[in-house]
Amino acid sequence: MESLKKIYPNVVVPQHGRGYFGIGIHCPKVTKNIGTLWRTAHILGADFMFIIGKRYENMITDTRKSWRHVPLFEYPDYETFRSSLPKGSKLVGIELDEQSVPLATYSHPERAVYLLGAEDFGLPPEVIATCDDIVQIPGEASLNVSVAGSIVIYDRLLKRGGFGL
Ligand SMILES: C[S@@+](CC[C@H](N)C(=O)[O-])C[C@H]1O[C@@H](n2cnc3c(N)ncnc32)[C@H](O)[C@@H]1O
Repeated sequence: MESLKKIYPNVVVPQHGRGYFGIGIHCPKVTKNIGTLWRTAHILGADFMFIIGKRYENMITDTRKSWRHVPLFEYPDYETFRSSLPKGSKLVGIELDEQSVPLATYSHPERAVYLLGAEDFGLPPEVIATCDDIVQIPGEASLNVSVAGSIVIYDRLLKRGGFGL
C-alpha cells in the first residue's frame, strides 16, 4: 500500500519520544477485535503487542499484518506474562473498575504496558489487583475492547508529545 504521507503530505506521523509502550489483551474472544487493535497499535507506534491465554490467528482486520513489523508476544497465562514484564515498566490496566482513574487526568508512565480485558468478563479482580494503575474511559457502558485500547494509545501520544504538539 502506498504511504499516506505521499498522498497527503500534511499527514502527521507519530513520533516515538522517550520510553516505550506495549499493549495487549487478556484472554480475548473475538479475532476481529484483536486484529483491529494490532492495526492501530502498529500505526500509532507501539513497541510491542501481546496476547495472554490465546494463540495468534489470522485476523482479517489486521490488514497490515502488524505482527510482521511489531513484536507480538504470546503468553500461555497471566503469571507467565507478569513475570516477563520489561524492567522498570508499569503495568496499566484499562478497565471500568471502582479503583480506576479517569484517563483524561492520567499521566502515562514513560515505560508502560497496557492491559485490556476480555469482551465478556473484562479483567479479573486478581489481575486488576496486580496492576500498578487502572484507567477508565468515561461512559455509561463498556466500549469495544479495541476501541478502548485505541483511545488510550491516542491519549498517550497526545500527552507525551507523540504528535509533535
Ligand atoms: C467489552 S469490555 C468488557 C466488559 C465486561 N462485560 C464487563 O462488564 O466487565 C472489554 C474490555 O474493554 C475495555 N474497556 C471497555 N470499556 C472501557 C472503559 N470505559 N474504560 C476502560 N476500559 C474499557 C476493558 O479493558 C474491558 O475489559
